[in-house]
Amino acid sequence: MMQSGFLKLSALSAFARFFVVYLFALPVWADGRLMPVQVLPVYKQECAACHMAYPPGMLPAASWQRIMLGLDKHYGSDASMAPEQVQQVSVWLKANAGTYKRVREEPPQDRITRSAWFARKHREVDSAVWKRVSVKSAAQCESCHTQAENGNFDEHQVRIPR
Ligand code: HEC
Ligand code: HEC
Repeated sequence: MMQSGFLKLSALSAFARFFVVYLFALPVWADGRLMPVQVLPVYKQECAACHMAYPPGMLPAASWQRIMLGLDKHYGSDASMAPEQVQQVSVWLKANAGTYKRVREEPPQDRITRSAWFARKHREVDSAVWKRVSVKSAAQCESCHTQAENGNFDEHQVRIPR
């Protein structure tokens, strides 16, 4: 009797662990909409000239919309593009924007790097690390996420440069 009760309990706890480890550890990318399989060519071409093509699922639609309306004064840069390209990219970003609850909030300055989930996921990264010349900025994801270009931010693919 005792034995089988214990077995049931440990099966239950393995189940609970699965939930905690896998389901809750997959906050934003759980909705599978981080980087769509089909990436709009104009987006790859125009929005990855100065930094990586960020997965649209990492910001809510309202943030992308503001970004697309202010490309001439884009974080201190001029990222203007032809009106028809702006239109195409805007529609695509809106369709693929983050909807998962942790991405729904509009972060300050519409920065992925100012999102609450971003801070949480990077709380173990020392503040001095972000300022390393080899890292350049938190916005340069691919400095540390070696597979970022493929939309893979898995912790096992992280290499922090010296
Ligand atoms: C001319 C260069 C340039 C182009 C082209 C460009 N960006 Fe940027 N973008 C920047 C710079 C510079 C920053 C600020 C990076 C930093 O803080 O280190 C930035 C930041 C961003 C951020 C915020 C990153 C963060 O901190 O989380 C987003 C989102 C973004 N860009 C989206 C886009 C989109 C969408 C396009 C295409 C429509 C685009 N960018 C095209 C230069 C550019
Ligand atoms: C200075 C290096 C560095 C930069 C730059 C960086 N990250 Fe990270 N990132 C990390 C580290 C370290 C972790 C935590 C890995 C772990 O949990 O062991 C992490 C974790 C993550 C995770 C969670 C992965 C998981 O499996 O739980 C996501 C998502 C992520 N980063 C996205 C980004 C995005 C998007 C950018 C750019 C806007 C970025 N990171 C920039 C170092 C970096």
